[in-house]
This record gives sequence, C-alpha cells and structure tokens, in this order.
Amino acid sequence: MKVAVFRKAHFNAAHRLHNPAWSDDRNQETFGKCNLPHYHGHNYDLIVQVIGDIDPETGYVMDMKVLKDLIKEQVEDRFDHKNLNLDTDEFKTLNPTAENIAVVIWNLLRPHLPKHLELKIRLYETERNFVEYPVG
Ligand code: NI
Repeated sequence: MKVAVFRKAHFNAAHRLHNPAWSDDRNQETFGKCNLPHYHGHNYDLIVQVIGDIDPETGYVMDMKVLKDLIKEQVEDRFDHKNLNLDTDEFKTLNPTAENIAVVIWNLLRPHLPKHLELKIRLYETERNFVEYPVG
C-alpha cells in the first residue's frame, strides 16, 4: 500500500539563462528576458514528494520533520537569496533553468533518503510555469 507524502518549501534566487557557446543574438532569441545580463529573481516554490509503504510501527511513510530539515539543509540553505549562476557550485557551468534546478535538487536529496522510498520533485518558477522530475 503505497502512499505519497508531500512537503512544500520556498526559496528566492536570481539567475540568468545563457549558453556561452552561442552568440548574444541567439541567447537573446532563445532565452528572452531570462537572458538579460544583470540577472533577475524568481520566487521558487518547491514540492518534494516521497512515495513509499506506510511503516507499520510509526504509521508514517517518512517522518516529515526529517524531510523538512533535509530540504532546509540541502536546498534552502544552499540556494535561498543566492545568485544561482555566481554563488553556487551547482550552476557555475549548468544553465539554471527550472528543469536543471529540479534535477539538481533531486540529486541533492536522493542520497539522504532511504532506498525504498521514491522521490519526485515539482518546482514552480512562476505560478503557471512548473516542472517535474523524474517523469512517470
Ligand atoms: Ni528567469
């Protein structure tokens, strides 16, 4: 009997979408306002989903306090109020799109969760634009 539990979190961060291998024109054409040279901010809403069997002893899929602390340590402390391109190791050379940020967050959290639990990330860059990883 699998159950999904969810924890919401939030961070503010600045970024610039840019491919250094391309011309300025091509970057501008592809990334639009997100390519503006002086960066801009987003209020990212994160939903971390953990799927697993209910532990018969605790009645939990996982202790939400543990999940909350893990998200704070691994995601919020690392990215909140940062410039993703300049201030983080993860996006020094990786374009900080919502897609890439979701994959990075999954990779940061995954090693800290028990193997039998499934992990999914949903990341809102705006109210209307959001991504999920992994798919399916
Ligand atoms: Ni942007």
